[in-house]
Amino acid sequence: MLSNEVSEILNKQSGIEADASHAYLALAGWCEERNLPGIAEYFYAAAEDERAHFLEIIKYINKHQAPARVDGVKQPRATFTNLLEVFQYVWDLEHNNTLNINAVADVCLKNKDFATYKFMEAFVLEQQESETSVQELIHMIKTLGNDDKSLYYINKNFKKMVDKAAAGTEA
Ligand SMILES: [Fe+2]
Repeated sequence: MLSNEVSEILNKQSGIEADASHAYLALAGWCEERNLPGIAEYFYAAAEDERAHFLEIIKYINKHQAPARVDGVKQPRATFTNLLEVFQYVWDLEHNNTLNINAVADVCLKNKDFATYKFMEAFVLEQQESETSVQELIHMIKTLGNDDKSLYYINKNFKKMVDKAAAGTEA
C-alpha cells in the first residue's frame, strides 16, 4: 500500500510522462513536415519510451494502490524556428523531467517507501543518460549549423543512431 503522498506524486509523474510522449510526437511531426525523417524516427522512438514510462508507473500504482488516475494530456508545443530551438526545448523537457523524477524519489525517501524508491531508481538513471545525450545532440547541431546542407547530414546521423539503437535492442 502506498502512502497518500507517494501515490499522489506518482500519479502526477505518470501524467508528466504522458505529456512528454505527446511532446515528442509533435516534434516528430515538425521533422516530417521539413523532410527530416531520420530525426522524426528519433522522436517517434522517444515518444514510445515516454509512453512505456507512463504505463510502467500506471501499472505500479494499480498493483499497489489501484486505481491510478489517468489524466488528460497537455497540448504539446509544435511551433519552432529551427532544429536548434527544437533541441533546446527537448533539453528543457528532459531537465524538468529530471527534477520531477528526483522529487518523486525524494518523497519516497521522506515516506520511508524504499520499495518505490527502488522502483524509481531506473527512472533516475535514465534521466541522467537522457540529459547527457541531449547535450551531445545540441553540441552537434551547434557545430554543424542549421542550414540545409547541415540538416541533411544531421538527419543522416540521426537515422544511423536510431538504426543502431534498434539493432542493439534486437540483439
Ligand atoms: Fe520518461
